[in-house]
Amino acid sequence: MNTRVFSSDAHTINHTDIAQAATIIRGGGLVAMPTETVYGLAGNALDVTAVQAIFRAKGRPSTDPLIVHIADMAQLALVTTASDLPMLRLLAEAFWPGPLTMLVPKQHTISDAVTAGKSTVAVRMPAHAVAQALIQHSGCPLVAPSANTFSRPSPTTAAHVLSDLDGRIDAVIDAGPTPIGIESTIIDITVTPPRILRHGGITVEQIMAVVGDVEIAHHELTPHTVAPAPGMLLKHYSPRTPLRLYRGAPTAIQQAISTYCAQHPEVHVVWMGYDDDVDVARQLGIEWRSLGARTDGDTVAHRLFDTLRALDAMQADVIVASQPDGTGIAAGVCDRLYRAAEGRIHDVP
Ligand code: TXA
Ligand code: MG
Repeated sequence: MNTRVFSSDAHTINHTDIAQAATIIRGGGLVAMPTETVYGLAGNALDVTAVQAIFRAKGRPSTDPLIVHIADMAQLALVTTASDLPMLRLLAEAFWPGPLTMLVPKQHTISDAVTAGKSTVAVRMPAHAVAQALIQHSGCPLVAPSANTFSRPSPTTAAHVLSDLDGRIDAVIDAGPTPIGIESTIIDITVTPPRILRHGGITVEQIMAVVGDVEIAHHELTPHTVAPAPGMLLKHYSPRTPLRLYRGAPTAIQQAISTYCAQHPEVHVVWMGYDDDVDVARQLGIEWRSLGARTDGDTVAHRLFDTLRALDAMQADVIVASQPDGTGIAAGVCDRLYRAAEGRIHDVP
């Protein structure tokens, strides 16, 4: 299949192109669309054949359910039996449109293929003008997992989407890099207190300011623990190059990376660091990319997947990296890096 590329400004919608993309969706096809978090691979949420095609295109196991994307509150009734749930209304009022996904009881119109047989469905209203326009033109809610091959880093540009899915999907709408850069926060509101299953674009602090107490699912997994949600796998977001992940004080990590390079001169090492690593990286003479200032979570999140893919393309033996500092969206970055390293962390004292 020849994957068509539509272009759109992120804010001023090209309605002719979006209408063509919506025609593809209504015909059961798949279109990768930009959202404020990452690019999603969209299909008609009410069309089982399209839903199944999404799993095939991504190579994703059918046990890992999809998020349903809506354009307005009127579409909520198509997705859930609980559109009047006070907690849903409260969180929607505060964070929609935006990067918050809520687990709610599913409506019978949503097939088991979407939810992997679960009685809950994940729903969110994206805050990207192109995604909103595509949902509106399509006239139906859209399922959209991140538009990457299963277990690869999520796509934040149309080029990332094409690198994984060119020839496997009908079209991609290129609206430039996605603003946030990591996925939505997922919260289960069918339990009390609500339970955060995935850190993401809306921070735990922001959610607690609105709803008070929340529970946070156990995110540090071992190969033997059961994931809190089907998609919360230990190996996820992974580059092909092994990622060696450090945690600790910045200077101690710089020292540990220097020692590692000195002890393994035969290993081709590249470094995904922060602005203040520049001098050490230059001394080591290794390829280096910065995610920004290590305390600037927004920039670090925005650059994360693009930088990971760029370093991966260098075909080195090892990518060294370290956890960022700070709270807020940094928690989401820490989670992505932890899984990209398949749960292995080198703690430096
Ligand atoms: O920001 C985002 O959320 C992006 C954009 C495209 O909207 N989408 C995204 O989708 O990240 P995906 O499929 O890559 O991740 C969705 C996660 C998966 O880990 C899946 O297991 C979980 O949501 N999920 C979906 N429905 C669920 C359900 N009913 N119960 C538990 N987990 C669910
Ligand atoms: Mg994903």
